[in-house]
Amino acid sequence: MDNRPIGIFDSGLGGLTAVKALRQLLPEENLIYFADSGRLPYGGRSRSQLRRMARQDLDLMASHGVKAVLVACGTVSSNAPDLLEENAIPTFGVMKASVEAMARMPGTGPLGIIATEATIRSGAFEAALRELCPDRPIIALPCPKLVPLIEFGHIRPDDPLLQEAMDDLAPLRGADALLLGCTHYGIVAEAIRQALGPHTRLLEASGCGAEALRDYLVRRDLTGGQGQELFLTSGPAEEFQAAASLFLGRGRAIAARHIPPMEAGEP
Ligand code: DGL
Repeated sequence: MDNRPIGIFDSGLGGLTAVKALRQLLPEENLIYFADSGRLPYGGRSRSQLRRMARQDLDLMASHGVKAVLVACGTVSSNAPDLLEENAIPTFGVMKASVEAMARMPGTGPLGIIATEATIRSGAFEAALRELCPDRPIIALPCPKLVPLIEFGHIRPDDPLLQEAMDDLAPLRGADALLLGCTHYGIVAEAIRQALGPHTRLLEASGCGAEALRDYLVRRDLTGGQGQELFLTSGPAEEFQAAASLFLGRGRAIAARHIPPMEAGEP
């Protein structure tokens, strides 16, 4: 039993998909969520900058006395997997568990991965999946329009701008399964489902990461807490509060605390 909180972070709203998944899996846990909205988006940044920012985000989590960290960001998970592994606190990304789950998808047809530009450029999701299923066609596609649309509230499946962005998924039609390798994409999963049709099974990286963390805590008897939550954001607190309350389906608004954005340094 360990009542210390779990730390979760992302560039913005996307990691809330992991918060939602963790809440379902472990309702008692105390959670600290950091939305680095002041430095969003992560997906267009260089690898060296992302690695510097990953270190800062991990240190921020450590300063809050967390027992484990869930890096609810595909971009950080794929560009700094070694930093996650070496972290002094047990740290889980969303890449490893989700790729393993993808490799178990039935069928012989293509497997798709969509994620940010920096994630696809890293080639990490694709390489890890190719190692587990060398004979399966893999289609990896960046979807740079989605994160800004989601952050600006274009999340309803019938939103015209979101619908237009769905045209970019055309190369994935007919895939057996699609991995949402950016945690933001889970917020618009319904639109993606409608665009690809019932044949393609969707898998969310954030849910897979949350399950891996749950398994780790349960195995080591490290679960425990009072269901408390602390939300931190480096962007405007009110905007985050409104969007997060809506997405998490909370009747009463959640409270978020603003912290100043950290220095991202040279690109
Ligand atoms: N949600 C993040 C991810 O999973 C990053 C989105 C962004 O800031 O570009 O990759």
